[in-house]
Amino acid sequence: MNLDQALQEISAAPSLEALHTLKVQYLGKNGLVTQEMKTLGKLSPEERKEKGRALNEIKEKLTAALAAREAAIKEQSLQEQLEREALDVSLPGYAFPSGGLHLISQIQKELLDIFRTMGHSVVEGPEVESEFFNFDGVNMPEWHPARDMQDTFWLQPPEGFTIQGPFGESVNDLGSALLRTHTSPMQVRYMVQHTPPFKIVVPGRVFRYEQTDASHEAMFFQLEGLVVGEGITMADLKGAITELARGLFGAEGRVRFQPTFFPFVEPGAQFAMWWPERQKWLELGGAGMVHPNVFKAVDDYREKLGLPRAYEGVSGWAFGFGLERLALLRYGIPDIRYFYQQNRLSFLRQFRN
Ligand code: PHE
Repeated sequence: MNLDQALQEISAAPSLEALHTLKVQYLGKNGLVTQEMKTLGKLSPEERKEKGRALNEIKEKLTAALAAREAAIKEQSLQEQLEREALDVSLPGYAFPSGGLHLISQIQKELLDIFRTMGHSVVEGPEVESEFFNFDGVNMPEWHPARDMQDTFWLQPPEGFTIQGPFGESVNDLGSALLRTHTSPMQVRYMVQHTPPFKIVVPGRVFRYEQTDASHEAMFFQLEGLVVGEGITMADLKGAITELARGLFGAEGRVRFQPTFFPFVEPGAQFAMWWPERQKWLELGGAGMVHPNVFKAVDDYREKLGLPRAYEGVSGWAFGFGLERLALLRYGIPDIRYFYQQNRLSFLRQFRN
């Protein structure tokens, strides 16, 4: 047998099985080396000693080579297994981004909490509204110049579409359909359906047919407040708005009222809040005492439905303001379009709750 060839075969053995076959072939009971060993007996002592040593050397070399090859094959298959099953714990994991409330939702929630504390119920009205509730019912008849203040998205509802009044009755005959331009129509709807005294707030989306710019959006959110009962005065209104300012800005919160005109209030005011941190006034929205014509429109509507008039001899106050405006001023946000048009997460995430 040829030792070099055997060693070469061993070091090239591709698997443990192949290696085992080689081991049997050379060192097994009938292996080549073993067979040679058996011939030693026929030799002279001199020759036997000589050949015996040579064979032992060969056996040792083969044994060592087999062991080395076996270790190498095992090492290689271990490496392959490790590579196959590799788990790189340094790789970044999958991110499951958690959502958050939009800044405007957060502010709405904050505002509603403040008014709930004051005993107001939270009610909501439809975004697709009738001209009647949006305008006529709040003392803005068609000829009224104040209608120009609110540019309107008029709608052409499909055949068979009804706009429903507070009790589900069709109000299609009372005017065209539109996207509400303010939350004030809910004043009328609520009063038709309820009798005083009550305190409500109405959050909701409103729409204006407007060119957008840094401070104007075609869609934004308002919060409307309405309190009606016997002996309700402007002082109550001021108290409630002051409470709102304190809820938003702490004990130093203050409010300022300046006379202005809205058709649905008399007297009417615009109000601003003092922002202690920045030492400035935030011009926020409108307010005032509910105009008698609004109560009259409500009672006329109730009467038409066969309900008793309920708003003679009561008084009430109302306010309305935009949530985006509060957010813009409070956080120094330069452009209202960040909220919805761009809807940039990098912007919104700054206000993650
Ligand atoms: N509806 C008015 C607006 O959208 C705000 C307002 C509400 C003013 C209630 C006075 C009373 O501008």
